[in-house]
Amino acid sequence: MNWYPGHIEKAKRRIRELLKMVNTVLEVRDARAPFATSAYGMDFSKKGTIVVLNKVDIADKKITKEWVEYFKKQGKRVITTYKDEPRQVFLRKLHLGRLARVLVVGVPNTGKSTIINKLKGKRASSVGAQPGVTRGIQWFSLENGVKMLDTPGILYKNIFSKDLAAKLLLVGSLPVERIDDHEVFEKAFEIFKRYQGVEDDFTTFFENFAKRRGLLKKGGVPDLDRAIRVFFTEISQGKVGRLSFERPDEVNPEE
Ligand code: GTP
Repeated sequence: MNWYPGHIEKAKRRIRELLKMVNTVLEVRDARAPFATSAYGMDFSKKGTIVVLNKVDIADKKITKEWVEYFKKQGKRVITTYKDEPRQVFLRKLHLGRLARVLVVGVPNTGKSTIINKLKGKRASSVGAQPGVTRGIQWFSLENGVKMLDTPGILYKNIFSKDLAAKLLLVGSLPVERIDDHEVFEKAFEIFKRYQGVEDDFTTFFENFAKRRGLLKKGGVPDLDRAIRVFFTEISQGKVGRLSFERPDEVNPEE
């Protein structure tokens, strides 16, 4: 199982092209799983990189604090945000210098476009394509001379384990429809159980969920496939409540 196989290399090449044009990278990660949604396989260390832990409105507050400490200890610049945070507050946190040329990157669904649109605001004018570089690339200007690329770089990492696939499912980076291995759902459910403190086993939980939601097949039999689909979609959108899916002390920084 993987993300759009074949597109991964193409996406990496595109990001390398975009990187040539910028000196600052906003690496958007989902605050609920900042390690699983990291830019594994791409090196942004030569650029001024700011790790943006997004969606903190639906992440566990205490675990988000642990992550902020974790990144600070590694000497990284890290900020937290969420879609309804006022633009000016977000801009102050970013604290971009006048000469910043910015690219937003991240794995699917971390909120890159939402961030770009917020920064773009209504007043930011597009400054047009730069001649001589990749076609179709548009910049926009922020108040203080900062320029940003208005399309994000999408990262597709190598999904080397079921655990990683499960976390990407939980944050909505990997759509439910793309998962063809039932064990990924089981792993994701184990992670949910650990963080939510649920006791049920997989089948009992999803049977009850299906009954509660009226997701039934002919004869009133719980439709487990639909229940799984609905549940994981909702959890990724934060509808199940504030919940994180990994803590810094469980991840191996060497990975
Ligand atoms: P791709 O185009 O797939 O790479 O997605 P993206 O990274 O550009 O994410 P996008 O901005 O499209 O947001 C994905 C989904 O997450 C949308 O449904 C957003 O409304 C939602 N979203 C974005 N930011 C936040 C946030 O801070 N909190 C919550 N709860 N939802 C958010």
